[in-house]
Amino acid sequence: MSNESDDLMSLCKRRGFIWPSCEIYGSVAGMYDYGPLGFSLRNNIVEIWRSLYKGREGFVEIDTETVNPRDVFKASGHLDKFADKITYCTKCGSPFRADHLVKEFYENPDVMTEKELDQAFIDHDIVCLECGGKLGPVEDFNLMFRTNIGPGSSRVGFLRPETAQGIFVNFLNLYRYNREKLPLGVMQTGRSYRNEIAPRQGMIRMREFNQMEVELFVDPEDKHWERFDQMKDEVLTLLPNTGTETVTMTVGEAVEKHIIANEVLGYFVGTTKQLLVRAGVDPARLRFRQHLQDEMAHYAADCWDAEALLSFGWTEITGIADRGCWDLSRHAQFSGADLSHFKRFDEPREEEVEKVRPNSKKVGPMFKGKAKAVSDAIAAKTPADISDGKLSIDVDGEEIVLDGDMFEVVKVKEKVAGERIVPHVIEPSHGLDRIFYTVLEHAYSYDKDKDYTTLRLAPEVAPIKVGVFPLMEKDGLDTFAKDLCEKIHTHRVEAYYDGSGTIGKRYARMDEAGTPWCITVDYDTLDGENKGTVTLRDRDSAEQKRIKAEDAETIISELLAG
Ligand code: GAP
Repeated sequence: MSNESDDLMSLCKRRGFIWPSCEIYGSVAGMYDYGPLGFSLRNNIVEIWRSLYKGREGFVEIDTETVNPRDVFKASGHLDKFADKITYCTKCGSPFRADHLVKEFYENPDVMTEKELDQAFIDHDIVCLECGGKLGPVEDFNLMFRTNIGPGSSRVGFLRPETAQGIFVNFLNLYRYNREKLPLGVMQTGRSYRNEIAPRQGMIRMREFNQMEVELFVDPEDKHWERFDQMKDEVLTLLPNTGTETVTMTVGEAVEKHIIANEVLGYFVGTTKQLLVRAGVDPARLRFRQHLQDEMAHYAADCWDAEALLSFGWTEITGIADRGCWDLSRHAQFSGADLSHFKRFDEPREEEVEKVRPNSKKVGPMFKGKAKAVSDAIAAKTPADISDGKLSIDVDGEEIVLDGDMFEVVKVKEKVAGERIVPHVIEPSHGLDRIFYTVLEHAYSYDKDKDYTTLRLAPEVAPIKVGVFPLMEKDGLDTFAKDLCEKIHTHRVEAYYDGSGTIGKRYARMDEAGTPWCITVDYDTLDGENKGTVTLRDRDSAEQKRIKAEDAETIISELLAG
């Protein structure tokens, strides 16, 4: 990790943002616990996400299980395709992510096959970083954590590697809830799990992490997304997969020039920028990079990453993907459920459709007495029900398998009210911990001359909104300050009382915690011409002004509202 990142991580630990998980037992790489300030900051970021999609757009939010049976991930493709390339040292057994290892010694942007990686170890003399031993053959390592559901080894399950699958497997419930209409926007935030081979760079590659995901189900034929209009003027810095230089343009221009594939994708790139900037990501250190064809996840048709410039370089913090009909088609195929949408035409259309009809010359003589029931059962079937030239029907609870001469497929003209389509999915998937870390890094400022650290967090996400101090913890100043603190404090506006140490030290503690304002109660508050007033200090300008103590609550609320 870089020095800046080290300094930030030690501040995070000192102030109670994040702690290495299970530290008294030596901690586990890639696992962190959120302390009180970190938990609040993280929740405040989630609230911005919620306000954008649930509040503004009316998307619905759900919460699904983190352990799912194997079938879910067989269908989603994660079981077969969600793997990284691993190699183990033949001497000490240390595992390494093969492509990362190769990139450290030899800059190759292309995705390499197992054979090419093996060869790169030889060509570039790459050995174990721990003991210098020879590296073994490169193989696939599936990133999902496996478990058993219930005692014994009865049912295999996996911890979900993305929250999205919980939404896809609930599509039928959600579709009915939405009165069988599209578009349908569904959001979920929660834990995801990936057994990363070599977690590094602090919170960037974790084994248990948090996502905020939106799955928008749309009709792919609907080329206009009406909410796109409100996003058209959002200015973006884009790095398309066709070039090496970023371009700056509005969302509207990017879609018009076909740099971004469609309006829904453009809309989500725009909302992602709004979310990240509102949370405190520096717009000058934010860009959107289009995936190269060979970089795309197994389900994606087009994908953009929001990347933030961090002390370790440009880093993906959000992925925005056009997942097409991959997920619903696969879950329909593997579960047998009908996950399609009935798309009603504006006017019924006359169409030629294929129907199954009984061959009355054969059915009559063959099924005397039951001919009508058999004919009706045949007519209720569709050509898709014919298997190997035979048709299976149910007559009064009895299964009858008919040969091809008992029925025929005919073409008839019919008024058709609509058709069944498989909805497409467009998804912004935000890595909450990575956004959290980016917000901290972009807010971090260290004044070398003064040896002074300030976290310039946006007031909306700052965990503590106002620090309240008595000048001295005596003479009634402390009681006044405690009462004032209690009056301002709510679950949305966190006020923090601090009476220990010099005022300078208390300001410094609040500046390190990212608190935008501090209020100090002094002797003037209790007596004299300024009786009933307190000082309000602004973190970023360090300006102080006297305000009436009774107005403090309203003033802080107004400042927060911007
Ligand atoms: N549902 C799509 C999906 O999961 P992804 O690009 O694999 O797509 C989305 O992940 C986001 O989740 C990433 O942009 C990243 O911010 C975050 N993420 C992925 N793996 C992570 C890890 N090991 N630790 C922390 N965040 C991670």
